[in-house]
Amino acid sequence: MNDFILIMEKMAQGGSALSHLPDGRVCFVDGALIGESVLVELTQQKKDFAKGFAKKIVEPSLERVTPFCPLYGKCGGCSLQHASMKFQEQAAREVVEELFVRFAKEKLPPGWKIHFGSPFHYRNRARFVRNGKQWGFRARDSHDIIPLSDCPILSSGLAQALKEDSIHWPWVPELNVFDNGDGCVSFYHEKMSPSESLKKSENTVSLMGQTLSMDASVFFQSNLGLLPELVKTVQNAAGTGHWLIDLFSGVGFFASFLQDQFDRVTTVERDSNCLRHARKNLSASSEEVSAPAEQWLGENAIEGVDTLIVDPPRTGIPESALRVLCKASPKKLLYVSCDPVTQARDFAILKTAGYKIVDAQGFGFYPQTSHFEMFLELQKG
Ligand SMILES: C[S@@+](CC[C@H](N)C(=O)[O-])C[C@H]1O[C@@H](n2cnc3c(N)ncnc32)[C@H](O)[C@@H]1O
Repeated sequence: MNDFILIMEKMAQGGSALSHLPDGRVCFVDGALIGESVLVELTQQKKDFAKGFAKKIVEPSLERVTPFCPLYGKCGGCSLQHASMKFQEQAAREVVEELFVRFAKEKLPPGWKIHFGSPFHYRNRARFVRNGKQWGFRARDSHDIIPLSDCPILSSGLAQALKEDSIHWPWVPELNVFDNGDGCVSFYHEKMSPSESLKKSENTVSLMGQTLSMDASVFFQSNLGLLPELVKTVQNAAGTGHWLIDLFSGVGFFASFLQDQFDRVTTVERDSNCLRHARKNLSASSEEVSAPAEQWLGENAIEGVDTLIVDPPRTGIPESALRVLCKASPKKLLYVSCDPVTQARDFAILKTAGYKIVDAQGFGFYPQTSHFEMFLELQKG
């Protein structure tokens, strides 16, 4: 017997709803919302939990909406198109609050702010995969490829690039695409020669009065519409001072907006491709380091730093880097994260060293998906 009628108890990290099977095991259900009564078909059964999907909604939530993409449910890109934006925001709040309680026994400041932008056409960076002649995205829960001729969350530049025959490289399995929002879409694949890369991959982004150099091979934030909100939040929190350190700095993104607020600026980034961009994006007096953050922190004294920004990948801050940050005493530690799970786990460790949350803000950079960006301002004492 693989089908059950269950009432959804809450939303879980990852976009599924959580319920319990009659035998007491937790059951994660794709395509369902809190409060709904759902006919669930199980797809995976383990000793402690099971997974399934909503085969039929018996009693729908008032926040249920009709998914706007015909590929919804097949494409791995969006998992929450069946929820209103109001629901998505509330679900993000509850999931993040629960993570901080679970991992760090910490209540986020009451009424912490969440910023949301446009629900459609927001995504300016993507990786396309090839299926025969057509580009597409990976299917949900599999390595299959869903061919796409349109995608309602892509920026107009990327959606146009999908439609047009402007993308060449028929032998390339994966392609990074980046739309700078001003009509320039750039492309990168791993076999690109340096001269082709110079022509096809290089780009610049104009944001809040700055023009930033980047290329389609490196990390750059993927929601340009909402990005100024995050930059302003970081600018306000960073304050002014003598020394700013920006760890996991990409092309020197945050430092470029903060450099006038500090006498000394150090950026540290592992991807060496970022270095030449950071040199263009930052003033000549800044120090741009190409190294793993944990190695740099292990070899350099950071006493006297005023503001330290960390914006690590999904995996969070490496353990040895966390140990150094625990011993250090920056006036402010600003932690930007694209994965609240690892951020909450890292905060649990920072908390034992005396860091406290002064401000928390959330950024719905990826509407229709379960991904969510978080900002924390931390201080010791
Ligand atoms: C989420 S991105 C943030 C980049 C930048 N702060 C921005 O907003 O554009 C994380 C960056 O950390 C870099 N990275 C990953 N692991 C690293 C490590 N151990 N040390 C330094 N940089 C690392 C990645 O190459 C990537 O550029």
